[in-house]
Order: sequence, then structure tokens, then C-alpha cells
Amino acid sequence: MKKLLLMLFLLTTSLIAAETPPPSLEPYEAKDFSNILGMPGFTDEALKMHFTLYQGYVKNTNLFIQILDGYAKEGKERTPQYAEIKRRLGWEFDGMRLHELYFSNLGGTPDSELDPDSPLCGRIEQDFGTFAAWQENFKSTGLMRGIGWVVLYLDPVEGRLLNMWIAEHDIGHMAGGKPILILDVWEHAYLTMYGLDRAAYIDAFFNNVNWQEVANRFPKDEVPEKKTSRT
Ligand SMILES: [Fe+2]
Repeated sequence: MKKLLLMLFLLTTSLIAAETPPPSLEPYEAKDFSNILGMPGFTDEALKMHFTLYQGYVKNTNLFIQILDGYAKEGKERTPQYAEIKRRLGWEFDGMRLHELYFSNLGGTPDSELDPDSPLCGRIEQDFGTFAAWQENFKSTGLMRGIGWVVLYLDPVEGRLLNMWIAEHDIGHMAGGKPILILDVWEHAYLTMYGLDRAAYIDAFFNNVNWQEVANRFPKDEVPEKKTSRT
């Protein structure tokens, strides 16, 4: 009898599980970065416009996930429409996440600096020779023609730091890499403030980096101590 009851219980449970749709995940929420308003070298007007653009990426990320879920429920996962939205989802998601990393690594005081005793500073000096050499390489990467991002990436496998160029939002990311410092060099980030003088914008960016936040992104306890060289 007990065995029969157990079988009935398992059968009922499996039927319920089969008929219960997967739980709906909470949509992404746009974060508030109004704390960085008033930064020297940035106008509030430009920053507020930038926040609005960021909110568009959050909105579209949620929208595309919703559309894809709808197609899946209708059995349309192998259609061109599904494939097209699926391709665009990564672009919107990366636009959302990169802006969050960018805004949150701003808001520092102009006279702040990366703690020279921090593990991140030590790794920068190991991989690039000096902090100044790394910064020059980062700035030069930001002056490349095109729209996109500069990301100081940590390759956690080799423990190596690399300044990477990300075209648009999604081309050039380091697989498995951990973003440490992010600079937006799309024209909307600086054109209304600096015209075509991207170098002046990058200088203003460095005057406002929140180095404590950046240092905290470096996972000091998990990075292999491997001798590396600059690239
Ligand atoms: Fe942007």
C-alpha cells in the first residue's frame, strides 16, 4: 500500500511539474546613477541624456527577453524572427551592463588616485611596467577611430591585465574576462561637451574615476600570480 501511495505521489508531482510553466524572471531594473551629477568636466545635461540612453538598453533587454519567451511558448524558436531578436539581445544587454559599469566607476574626486599598495596597482605595474604606461595605453586605445568602449580586462585564467577595444557594445569582449575599468567612447558620451576632442573627454573621465570602486573589482584572492608581459 505504501509503495502504491508513493507511486501515486510521484506521478502526481511529475504531472504538476510538467504542466507548471517555468517561473517568470524579474525584469532588469534601471539603476540610479544620479550621484555622479555635478562631476567636474561633465554637464548634467549630457549625463542625464546618457542616463536616458542607458534606460533604453534596459527597456529593450527586457522587451527582447519577453518577445523571445513569447515566441518559445508559441513554438516559434526556429523561425527567422526568433533568430533576429536573439542576435540583437546580446547587443542590448551589453549596452545595459557596460553603461552600469561605466557610470559606477565614475564619481570619484579629481584628486583621488589608485592606492599604490592595492593589488590592482601592483598587477598593473607588473603587466605594464608603470601605472603611467598602462594609462597611456588605455587612453590611446580610447582614441582609436570608431564607436565603442575601452575595457581594462583581467584574464582570470592567466592573471593578466589587457586593455581591450570593444566595437559598439559586443565585439571584442574577452571570454571569461573580468571588467575592471570601463570607458564609453561612443560619441554621445562626449560630443555635446567636447565636440570631436575625444582626448579632452578622456582626461575629464580620468579626473572623475572612482578608484576605490575600480580597485574593488580586482579579485585579489583569486588571481594567479603569473609573470606576464604587456600587450
Ligand atoms: Fe553610452
